[in-house]
Amino acid sequence: MNIETTRMRLLRRQSDCWERIEKNLHSLNHGSLIALDNDFPCGFSRQEAIETGTCAVAAIMDRLSRAGMFFNEGDPGHGRGHLIRDYVEAVWLFSALDARPADILIGLVAGALHDIGCFLIPRYAEEKRSVRHAEASALILEEVFSECNCGLTRSEQMMIEYAICAHTHYLKPAEIKFGNGRKRFIAPYLDTRLNGEPYWWVWYTRWVDRLDTNGPSFAARHYLTIGKPHLDFDGEDHFAVGYAQHMRPLLRSREERGNDPQTMLEHLAMFAATDENSPYGKHDRREFITLRDGQRNRSKRIVEAVENAGMTRIPEADVLCAWNDFLSFQIEHPEIAVPVVKQLFEQFSNLPPDVRHAWTAGFLAIMDEYLDWYRVGQKDFGHLPHAWFNLPHFGDALAFIQPHGLWLDIVRP
Ligand SMILES: [Fe+2]
Ligand SMILES: [Fe+2]
Repeated sequence: MNIETTRMRLLRRQSDCWERIEKNLHSLNHGSLIALDNDFPCGFSRQEAIETGTCAVAAIMDRLSRAGMFFNEGDPGHGRGHLIRDYVEAVWLFSALDARPADILIGLVAGALHDIGCFLIPRYAEEKRSVRHAEASALILEEVFSECNCGLTRSEQMMIEYAICAHTHYLKPAEIKFGNGRKRFIAPYLDTRLNGEPYWWVWYTRWVDRLDTNGPSFAARHYLTIGKPHLDFDGEDHFAVGYAQHMRPLLRSREERGNDPQTMLEHLAMFAATDENSPYGKHDRREFITLRDGQRNRSKRIVEAVENAGMTRIPEADVLCAWNDFLSFQIEHPEIAVPVVKQLFEQFSNLPPDVRHAWTAGFLAIMDEYLDWYRVGQKDFGHLPHAWFNLPHFGDALAFIQPHGLWLDIVRP
């Protein structure tokens, strides 16, 4: 495997790539999925599932690194920071979740690596690509598995690839326009048996992702992506993200905003609303709800801080200084984040004073809520074996998420 060859294939040979996805994964029917589900060794404990999963993630990352992947490029909202937090959230969730070990193993590996394709292809080109970032991630793993089983059976590998393809959770067929005006419809991946029972391993993968698409880290990593105009997804359609428009401190319902694109506040509020009454959260249960609600409440407090912005407890210039440091060294690897943060700072300076004031309060709230997230996590995963958090080529995942640096000294109450 050579990463540059894989990258070129994903960028230039989409039809071939899509055919591989269609043949090996997208075409799997209920019979095939249930056969995979049943092909799991019995007598596996939850602890063994987590250990097998953490070893598999380590083996995959090691293999990718040897193939030339440096994990220091790609979209700043889906880079190292997201991967490391997803990994920690996965271990955190599955060490608490009372679930079938098979589902835990798949959810952990697929949950940690679901966005790995974003290191090779642009994240926000979904509307024009048949092999979107989810499928690209699955194909990268398919290539890894063709050389190394990473301690997994072929059925487990296929379930991981399938769960990764399904993680984006589109609710309706996506229409892709490509070539000379041709169209292709991609139906959503199957995620529920005919009797209504979920394929839990597919949902667990999404659950892991959802823990970083809510709360302070999501607000921060989303902010890192908005400097460049692009298309994002508002749950029904793709919408244009332009920095100044997106930063307007508006919180409207879908009806109220009509054709006007979603703002950052509305985007945060949308993710915060994925509870058990939404199509994305309809299977949420028990231990996940506790973690999800923690993140949801943090998102809500961030939104409220922007809406009701008063005087910040520290001078606004200090908040911005801490915020730049937080984005550059806490949320993402500096190699990915620093140039982006520089550009965002200039864009922020050009916003109207009332917008800057509202969002300065929001930035401070995001950093405060990060401290809250970390403090709660410490209680929950502080006692787990430290070896579970060691990622080859990334180092100690717990050291990465630990609040550190200039921002902490400025913000610490
Ligand atoms: Fe994703
Ligand atoms: Fe993700």
